[in-house]
Amino acid sequence: MPSKTKKNIVILISGSGSNMAAIVRTAQQQDWQRQFGAGVAAVISNRADTGGLQLAQSLGIATQVLSHKAFDSREAFDAALMALIDGYQPALVVLAGFMRILTPGFVNHYAGRLINIHPSLLPAFTGLNTHQRAIDAACTEAGCTVHQVTAELDHGPILAQAAVPVLPGDTAETLSARVLVQEHLLYPQAVHDWLQSQP
Ligand code: GAR
Repeated sequence: MPSKTKKNIVILISGSGSNMAAIVRTAQQQDWQRQFGAGVAAVISNRADTGGLQLAQSLGIATQVLSHKAFDSREAFDAALMALIDGYQPALVVLAGFMRILTPGFVNHYAGRLINIHPSLLPAFTGLNTHQRAIDAACTEAGCTVHQVTAELDHGPILAQAAVPVLPGDTAETLSARVLVQEHLLYPQAVHDWLQSQP
């Protein structure tokens, strides 16, 4: 039986939004509305000049921009972001290339309903430049991780991972492209599994 509960998903982006689009397309193709009573209610970007916003609109999703540059402090930005997100009464907040460090207050507010995708096989290579660092460390495998977000950056409980080989001659760009293909499969599946696990 489809759930009657309305489970709104809010996706936060900063860039091209390809993971966001993969989730939206999967939600539409698999009819998460019917399966779980769930849908992507809005995409919010902290940058106005990102292609991800147009992509979301082309998929029929409401978009919002909240520039971090309009705020004096990280706390003030996060408080405004929380107010914006909470207007959608989200069951789940999905970080999809949202390139902001979040305050503990924000993370605690969404405890248990805030997830992220990170382009490495965590716990290896938290932070930035993950692909170049994997190449420099002569790793034979790289990949991506979906995890719950906790106050410590890129350290929350792992929900799902996908690995790819690091090939001879790889650059950060070629490795990133190989990992991104897996991100677009892994993240929609992880959101699906999260929805399925909910009462
Ligand atoms: C993705 O590779 C994602 O894993 C990464 O940013 C990219 C966003 O691409 N996220 C992080 O590095 C988070 N620390 P997209 O905007 O096309 O989805």
